[in-house]
Amino acid sequence: VDRYAVFGNPIAQSKSPTIHQLFALQTEQDLTYDKILGQVGGFSASLAGFFADPYAKGCNVTMPFKEDAANWVTELSPAAQAAGAVNTISRLDNGGFRGDNTDGQGLVVDLENQQFLFADSNVLLIGAGGAAKGVVLPLLQKGLASLDIVNRTQVKAISLCDRFNDERLSGKSFEQVNREAKHYDLIVNCTSTSLQNELPPLSEEVISRAEHIYDMVYQSADTIFIAKAKQLDVKKTSDGLGMLVGQAAYSFFLWRGVMPKIQPVLDKLRVQL
Ligand code: ATR
Repeated sequence: VDRYAVFGNPIAQSKSPTIHQLFALQTEQDLTYDKILGQVGGFSASLAGFFADPYAKGCNVTMPFKEDAANWVTELSPAAQAAGAVNTISRLDNGGFRGDNTDGQGLVVDLENQQFLFADSNVLLIGAGGAAKGVVLPLLQKGLASLDIVNRTQVKAISLCDRFNDERLSGKSFEQVNREAKHYDLIVNCTSTSLQNELPPLSEEVISRAEHIYDMVYQSADTIFIAKAKQLDVKKTSDGLGMLVGQAAYSFFLWRGVMPKIQPVLDKLRVQL
């Protein structure tokens, strides 16, 4: 049977095998999906070892290997090219490997399912690392009014904006965003601050004025950022569990040609958190 896997380091915590096994059941596809600890500094060898098996048809790649994966594949999708990072690898019939990035689609589908995103939205992304990079193009393609990117190191936000030639983008410092105190329809935290139980230095005024607040991190309880938003009376908040299931669904579609239903799998995962 066809084999798939996710590579990361660490990897024990990964929910991808559970998600893909649920997708396989739901769509009646026969496949296996494992998690594999990638070797830092030896990731190419890990991948080559996996794909030496002709039944190995594809894999997901998570932290910290997404940039390495982009260098390893023989071709990149436009999304992976824009992100400079790959989360999905597919074996091609010609012996090559295609790298894709479904993180942005995963975020966008979750935002749309929850009605957090509209064509005239003014959006603020917090962070300019790998996670932010992957979602800029899919968000712009939704036709937003504006997309501000705020980062602790402002030059990184500006250079991220410079990668895309789009007037709706501006790279800002926290000081600037806090001073402007704009009303955002949506704020997305693309940093891992919540994992360290830290808050990005965004003023309470900016948070409380926002319509929708999204944190890419998910935990069994509210993340510190979501808890803060609720405390400031923001009514519509969400963690990133739907993005996780969404990116997996688009990977599954790339490999199997069938789009699984996201919601039933998300519901199952939510009760297991
Ligand atoms: P990822 O791939 O998860 O985005 P990354 O590329 O290391 O990881 O990027 C981490 C992001 O979180 C960066 O935008 C980082 O800001 P800097 O570029 O200034 O380092 C941001 N970040 C991390 N810890 C932070 C903190 N305590 N406050 C604000 N931003 C933080």
